[in-house]
Amino acid sequence: MCGIVGYVGKRSCLPIILEGLRRLEYRGYDSAGITILEDGRLETRKKAGKVADLENIWKSTGGSATIGMGHTRWATHGEPNDRNAHPHHDCSGSIAVVHNGVIENYRALKIKLEKSGHLFSSETDTEVIAHLIEEFYEKTTDLAQAVRLTLRQLDGTYGIVVMSARDPEKLVAARKGSPLVVGYGEGESIVASDASALVEHTRDVTYLLDGQLAVVERATVTVKNLEDVEVEKAVEHITFDLEQIEKSGYEHFMLKEIHEQPETIRNAMRGRLLAADGEVKLGGLQDVMEKLVAAKRIILVGCGTSWHAGLVGEYMLEQIAKVPAEVEYASEFRYRNPLVSKDDVVFLISQSGETADTLAALREAKGKGATVLGIVNVVGSTIARESDGGVYVHAGPEIGVASTKAFTSQLTVLALISLMLARAKGMAKRDIVALAKELDAVPGKVKKILEDAKVVADIAREFKDARHFLYLGRGANFPVALEGALKLKEISYIHAEGYPAAEMKHGPIALIDEHMPVVFVAPKDAIYEKVISNLQEVKARRGRIIAVANDDDMEIQAMAEFVLRVPRTYGFFGPILNVIPLQLLSYYIAVARGTNVDQPRNLAKSVTVE
Ligand code: M6R
Repeated sequence: MCGIVGYVGKRSCLPIILEGLRRLEYRGYDSAGITILEDGRLETRKKAGKVADLENIWKSTGGSATIGMGHTRWATHGEPNDRNAHPHHDCSGSIAVVHNGVIENYRALKIKLEKSGHLFSSETDTEVIAHLIEEFYEKTTDLAQAVRLTLRQLDGTYGIVVMSARDPEKLVAARKGSPLVVGYGEGESIVASDASALVEHTRDVTYLLDGQLAVVERATVTVKNLEDVEVEKAVEHITFDLEQIEKSGYEHFMLKEIHEQPETIRNAMRGRLLAADGEVKLGGLQDVMEKLVAAKRIILVGCGTSWHAGLVGEYMLEQIAKVPAEVEYASEFRYRNPLVSKDDVVFLISQSGETADTLAALREAKGKGATVLGIVNVVGSTIARESDGGVYVHAGPEIGVASTKAFTSQLTVLALISLMLARAKGMAKRDIVALAKELDAVPGKVKKILEDAKVVADIAREFKDARHFLYLGRGANFPVALEGALKLKEISYIHAEGYPAAEMKHGPIALIDEHMPVVFVAPKDAIYEKVISNLQEVKARRGRIIAVANDDDMEIQAMAEFVLRVPRTYGFFGPILNVIPLQLLSYYIAVARGTNVDQPRNLAKSVTVE
């Protein structure tokens, strides 16, 4: 959840590290710090706040340093202040550590270290790593070996980078549960927690695996396991463009990502959906096709927005492919000893592919013999690597903390999987062709919705001071209501709840008065009339109604105060369209309230701690 970037080479490291931190800031942004090696000693400056604040305290200094590392933090242990910001040091100040993850046994280690005379200057779990390395470095005089011995003492998760003034030409990086990637440049090497921090300098990278330790030097990178045995490095080539991780003229990443959806949804289908033939080809599922077709049930697991995608997927799989499906919160699944067996197929849905709970659920299901498959955005991420197969959603880098384009791409992939299974289970070809054509038309319809973004912006201003919001939908649009409410909460800090529309009268109806905005997701589908009855119940109590409705629904105009229009599509693909106006609504409300849309308070893009 935090960001790490380290550089060793010929160039001045400071601007490279600062730029890398800026690109990583979406992963954590409560404080930041940098250590460089200058005139034979480590120079560290760190500060609560944003990377821009850190930049100010480095102004016109440190220019000659060619090795250093930085960190942007999302606090777990210790409040976000200057002292707790990374890097952290040993007693002598000659060893520095940046760390992502959580050291679970840090209290016991700290007590022991304090007893033997170590002085701590922060409340973090990370600082114990620096002092342990100090202990072992005294004995071994080999930085990598000291790190290796330290790691054997740690329980928990880490992605760390270590540097020492006594070993001035190397960075030592190691991972267990928190991603790290090493990039190879011309006479320089960069290590980062996320490829977006280094893609500007190199595209050839190695993703470290759990239990690996890399000695990163200018011209060489050696990767070993914790037994000190060298392992072969898989060098991969990053394919995304720099432009994809920049705002390209948009005010916020979130707005850019919302507007990218016609393209990203198309990318999720590209080369996979042959609409005219009713064919779906998903290469990553080919080897497990037999298992998938024979599965007694499919379990969809995720967190947050990815869990909402799973809820829509449940409808698609059951209604299109006729396979029983269940949806689980990853964080609950892993702790309730779920009854999963080798006859089950478990899909792990995750944008980042690094969410700790989802990864743990994967391991839980795999350990019980189930086939585990990923629906993941980030290529090469841990969930993608540990799965038995899967489908990349190809949404490209998603930087805004509030997930938008990854969600619609996840839904598109779930629709493809449902169509593929339906075909394999004998659905008539002409029915598949009809559905495939509907899906193929979705990107064009999304484009049309986005053309009316200004209408949503006007409505948003009307509601910017609301204190609560209710979102209601039924069937496959109930998860859309949940997603609309989550988006609003995350970026505008307005309390919002999503409910199945018919459940409203069992409780939430008590909240309705003339101040309560209620968003209805009400496409003209099989349960439209039922949703309209619920809408009338709200209207009778003078709630302020905003409806997401189809272009040709003239009836709703008289009932809702505001109508957000979406084109018609096949019912179970509807969520892909219906969520778009809700993304825009939350975005424009947040802008009107002046919140930090891309970096909302307390959140981080990828939750790699439990
Ligand atoms: O990377 P993942 O999809 O596994 O992340 C899961 C959630 O943390 C994520 O969807 C979160 O809820 C977003 N902030 C939603 O906008």
